[in-house]
Formats: sequence, C-alpha cells, structure tokens
Amino acid sequence: SVWAVVLSLVYSLVAHFICYQAIKNFKDMFIKAGMFGKDLNKTSEEKIPEGLGVVSGAMFLISCFLFIPIPFLDYSELQFTQFICALLSICCMIFLGFADDVLDLRWRHKLFLPTIASLPLLAVYFVSGGSTTIIVPIPLRPLLGYDLHLGVLVYIYMGMLAVFCTNAINILAGVNGVETGQSVIIGTSIAVFNVIEIARDQFAAKHLFSLYLILPFIAVSLALLRHNWYPSKVFVGDTLCYFAGMTFAVVAILGSFSKTMLLFFIPQVFNFLYSVPQLFGIIPCPRHRLPKFDRATGLLGMSYAKFSPDQMGPGGAALLKTLSFLRLAKVEWSPPSGKEKKAEISVNNLTIINYLLKFIGPTHERTLTIYIMTVQVVGTIIAFSIRYGFVRFFYDV
Ligand code: UD1
Ligand code: MG
Repeated sequence: SVWAVVLSLVYSLVAHFICYQAIKNFKDMFIKAGMFGKDLNKTSEEKIPEGLGVVSGAMFLISCFLFIPIPFLDYSELQFTQFICALLSICCMIFLGFADDVLDLRWRHKLFLPTIASLPLLAVYFVSGGSTTIIVPIPLRPLLGYDLHLGVLVYIYMGMLAVFCTNAINILAGVNGVETGQSVIIGTSIAVFNVIEIARDQFAAKHLFSLYLILPFIAVSLALLRHNWYPSKVFVGDTLCYFAGMTFAVVAILGSFSKTMLLFFIPQVFNFLYSVPQLFGIIPCPRHRLPKFDRATGLLGMSYAKFSPDQMGPGGAALLKTLSFLRLAKVEWSPPSGKEKKAEISVNNLTIINYLLKFIGPTHERTLTIYIMTVQVVGTIIAFSIRYGFVRFFYDV
C-alpha cells in the first residue's frame, strides 16, 4: 500500500496541473454562458466567472475513477463498494451544487440538497455493518454507562454532518480566497491526521481509504485557490463549498473519525453559532454579509445590517442587548428623529470575518484572507492538541 499512496500522490500532482490549466481554459466559457459575478470588494466592474468549483470537482472525479484499479488489487469487495459509494455521494453533491449556482436556489434547498446527496453514503455505511454504538466520554460514564446504542440517531447525525460541513464552508465566505483556502487547510489537516494514524497503526485501512480521497481533493482545490486568491480571477461558487464539505463528511464517516474532523472545523463552528440569530431570522439577514469595501481607502471594514425594530423576531431585542453587553457585536440604536426618520437598529453582520475586523480595524482584502487562514491553522493546532493531548480525560487511549 506504500506504492498505492505514492501513486495517489503522483495522480494528485498531475490532477493539480491539469486542473489549473483547465480552469484557465474554461473560465471564459462560463462568462459566455452567463455564469459570472461581480467582485463586491473591488472598484472595477469586471465580470468574474462564477462556479469554477465544478471544474475542480470534475477533475477530482476523473482522477479518482482512474485511481480505482490501483488499491483495488488488494482491496476487499466491501472497501471497493465503499469507495464507489463515497464517489457517488460526492458526485451527487457536485451536481446539486452546480445546479444551485446556475439556478440560485433558496435557503431551504441548501439544507435539503446535502441530505439527499448523503443517502448513498448512509446506505453503504449500513451495508458495511456500520456501528450505531458510541463510546461514552469518561466524565459522563457514571451517568450513561460505557456505551450507548443510538440506532437510527447515528444516521440522522451523519446526514446532519453533511448538511453542516457543506453549509459551514459556504457561509464563511465573501473575501477572495477564503472558501478554497479553508478547504485546503482542513483537507491538509485531515491528510496529516490520516498519516499520523497510519504510522501509529491505528485503523490503518480506514485512514488509507480517506487519504486516497483527500489527496486528490487537496490537489484540485489548490489549483482552484491559485485562480481564486486575491485578486480573484474566478469565483468558486457554491459548487466548491458543497464539494468540499461533502468530501470531508464522507471521509470522516467511512473513516470513523467524525469527532476529530469536527475539531478541524473550530472556526466554522464558531462562525455558525455566531450566525445563528441571522440564519434563523431572529434578526434580519441581508443577501450578502461580506465585509464592507471602502472605496476611498481600498480597505475592508465591518458590514452592518440595518433595520427597523419591528423587523426583529421575538427575543431579538434581548439578544442584541446580550451580544452588545458581551462585546460580541457592535449594536447601535438610533431613536426616531423628527417626522421622516424612523427608529433604526444597526448591528454588524454576525460572521467571524466581521468579528475579526472588530479587533483589527479596516484591513486590506489580501491581508484579511491571510488572517482568516491563520485562524484556521491555529484551529488545526488546537484540534491536534485536543486529539492527542486532552483526549485522555475523555476516552481511554
Ligand atoms: C454566502 C453568505 C453571504 C456572503 C456570500 C459571499 C451567509 C448566510 N451567506 O451566501 O453572506 O455574502 O456567501 O460569498 O452567510 N463575492 C465577492 N468576493 C468573493 C466571493 C464572493 O464579491 O471573494 C460575491 C460575488 O458577487 C459572487 C457572490 O459573492 O458572485 C457569490 O455569492 P454566493 O456564493 O452565491 O452567496 P451565498 O453562498 O448564497
Ligand atoms: Mg456561496
């Protein structure tokens, strides 16, 4: 299997260069087909091709299909089936993601699509006798016992994992390079984790399986990142976000390391929890929450949602007061003044990017991306220290 890993690396390297070139060749066709967007953080009105994640996805699939015969020589039939179903789920997600980019689907679809795409994955987990029992963390054992049989809940958890991973990446976005950048860093973290576990001889077969999928994923995402980095020549579209999230969910589920995988999502988890009031309509959520571009200075600053008090859901006012008190958000109440001007509330859009800007002030877009990537890497370092350090307080290792 050493040779299979070496070959997987070679395949990935080739896929990287072909993918880089393919994006370059195809991007004008996207503009012709009406698939383009405007970079909201630039002064130019240039059309930027949108949805190029689909090229990366296609290259990933081709590379994986060509790779199938290689580990298959010493794979069992079951592992082969798992590999095919993993690709089927990812392929389905790329297809639905691209449909979203073309048709601009609504919010509820975004929750529905990954659930559908994860079905092949859940099916193969079932036929391969996937465990529905979890080991209880040590502190909870006096209460719950050593293990818990969760049955169908495990499948619901896995479906939700796919929904979370895909959308969590999609909502940490809006600055050149962040969607792909975070995907590359999370992918690399998973690859490093797989290699460590293979070296420790812990469930090596499962981690090898994950590695065969994650290496080509990193390769094609990196090719996309080179076009998407500041100043973006292409946008990745929701296709890439779905593709990336689904790939992570697939390898984590079939590799049985979903808790560790979620540790690599620390910034995304924070961003999601912070976003909850806007995502669930407690306070209004504008179409775009990306930072605000200041034409005069060329820097990015916090962006705000402005609305009248009666647009808030129940509990909105109390929530805003709490956020403001905890200094988690910048909130301003302007009372009605005169006849024309009604009362207005302004609160920064609740994203980790704006939260970062709250501390560092207006920042150049490229620098901001580098900061966000740094946060992601710090997240990975914390994840590894939890996984290999603090873990002994929770599980017997
Ligand atoms: C998600 C976010 C939204 C954010 C958007 C930006 C939530 C709930 N949704 O929406 O707040 O504004 O992503 O990606 O958090 N764009 C840029 N620069 C970039 C990347 C994107 O200007 O570096 C703009 C372009 O106009 C591009 C558009 O964003 O066409 C793509 O947005 P899209 O991916 O369709 O937005 P959502 O995923 O729905
Ligand atoms: Mg998006």
